[in-house]
Amino acid sequence: MPVTHLDSLEKIVSLSKSRGFIFQSSEIYGGLSAVYDYGPLGIELKRNVQNAWWKAMTQVHDNIVGVDAAIFMHPKVWEASGHVEGFNDPMIDDKQSKKRYRADMIIEQHILKLREKGDADKADELQQLLDTSGTRKGLCEDLYDIIMEEEIRAPESGAFDWTDVRQFNLMFKTHYGAVTKDEDDVIYLRPETAQGIFVNYKNVMDTARVQVPFGIAQIGKAFRNEVVARQFVFRMREFEQMEMQYFVEPGTDGDEYDKWLEKRMEWHNNLGVRGELLRAEPHPEDKLAHYARAAADIQYKYPIGWQEVEGIHNRTDFDLSRHHEYSGKKMEYYDQKEQKRYTPYVIETSVGLDRTMLMILCDAYREEEVDGDVRTVLKMHPKLAPTKVGIFPLIKKPELKELAHKIEKELKEDFTVLYDESGSIGKRYRRQDEAGTPFCVTVDFDGLDDNTVTIRYRDDMKQDRVSVDKLESVIRDRIKNWKPE
Ligand code: GAP
Repeated sequence: MPVTHLDSLEKIVSLSKSRGFIFQSSEIYGGLSAVYDYGPLGIELKRNVQNAWWKAMTQVHDNIVGVDAAIFMHPKVWEASGHVEGFNDPMIDDKQSKKRYRADMIIEQHILKLREKGDADKADELQQLLDTSGTRKGLCEDLYDIIMEEEIRAPESGAFDWTDVRQFNLMFKTHYGAVTKDEDDVIYLRPETAQGIFVNYKNVMDTARVQVPFGIAQIGKAFRNEVVARQFVFRMREFEQMEMQYFVEPGTDGDEYDKWLEKRMEWHNNLGVRGELLRAEPHPEDKLAHYARAAADIQYKYPIGWQEVEGIHNRTDFDLSRHHEYSGKKMEYYDQKEQKRYTPYVIETSVGLDRTMLMILCDAYREEEVDGDVRTVLKMHPKLAPTKVGIFPLIKKPELKELAHKIEKELKEDFTVLYDESGSIGKRYRRQDEAGTPFCVTVDFDGLDDNTVTIRYRDDMKQDRVSVDKLESVIRDRIKNWKPE
């Protein structure tokens, strides 16, 4: 059967809207860019991903516990973390179209074009300049010089009419409480969930009786005023992170970092996405963030190219030491057995929930030619599928509907199910294929005599006749033993 995989993000954007996975925020008012809402299918998928992550972190590890910290935090947190000073992107505006761009991205796109044209020497030379930007006149001026010297034009208008390059802090700022709006009331929407873990590190140690090495996991919203945000849920201004900070003894951090990178790759593979589209990319040493001793991206090959879905970082004792310095509270750990005191190092695993969902949707998408027709199907892992079972009476006869509702009621205890009696059976199957529903159960007249039904599988469209009493175990077995195509 001829199969086409996803070749553009637009198809996923369109399916996400038409099937109720993801909607543009405030769409009736023209939408809010880079902010999205999850619909009925989207929220089920999202919860399944969250649960898979939470289980992989807290349930299977005796030494990892969870927290749920508030989004608002004391403003000093962001001074200590370095975000007030350094969480910036270099931006530049096209004066003609009034569109704003990231200066480094404009240069990267230009380099890509040079490579496509076969001008590898020039591309390498520019890449070298880009990699060392910030070392000559400062980042903004270096990037501006490259854009001017190369006469790089604005992607949309084609104009060569730029403003200067300026640093733009990505944190959303607002004022706290009903007092005058001066700088003393400034509060930020958190740009990462990690700091909520660091500030609770002592509380957790004092209450959960954990000993180094131990981890703290959290799922929550983060906010970044991204300069460029035009890639659906890949780059949003409000998004969700699933982060875990693993506190280790200095000296063991190298091994722990390797272990977590491997574990996290395994988790992504276990989501059922195609292994050949996943890779781990270490950051070169001269590109590491100010707090990191080592870092790697786990990348997926989206239709927009290889992109980061998760970051694994060795953050050293940077955050705990800075919080010690800024709060005056000691962040040390006392190892009673060894009778020594130290500030733990932190291995961080930080995955974007929305980017994970986008990866799952992109990976699952197929167009298959079936009997001269094209069916669109989402072949995602059944454990993640928003609806597990579609239940259909063959036709709208009361006795078939009654048995179908009885099965629906029984299966509901264990699975998300959807009862549907409208349209032909073929149409009902197709609707569920597009929603990624792995099993459909059809109740017909034979079933009234022998208590059997037809179960149809999404992936190969094969059908089996099974006893109603066996349905639950057949579905469970299939979910457990599923493998990606
Ligand atoms: N605490 C470390 C940290 O926040 P990061 O690499 O900036 O590291 C971690 O972000 C993950 O959060 C990324 O791998 C990505 O999946 C997700 N993420 C970051 N910015 C995002 C955005 N604007 N929209 C959607 N997801 C984003």
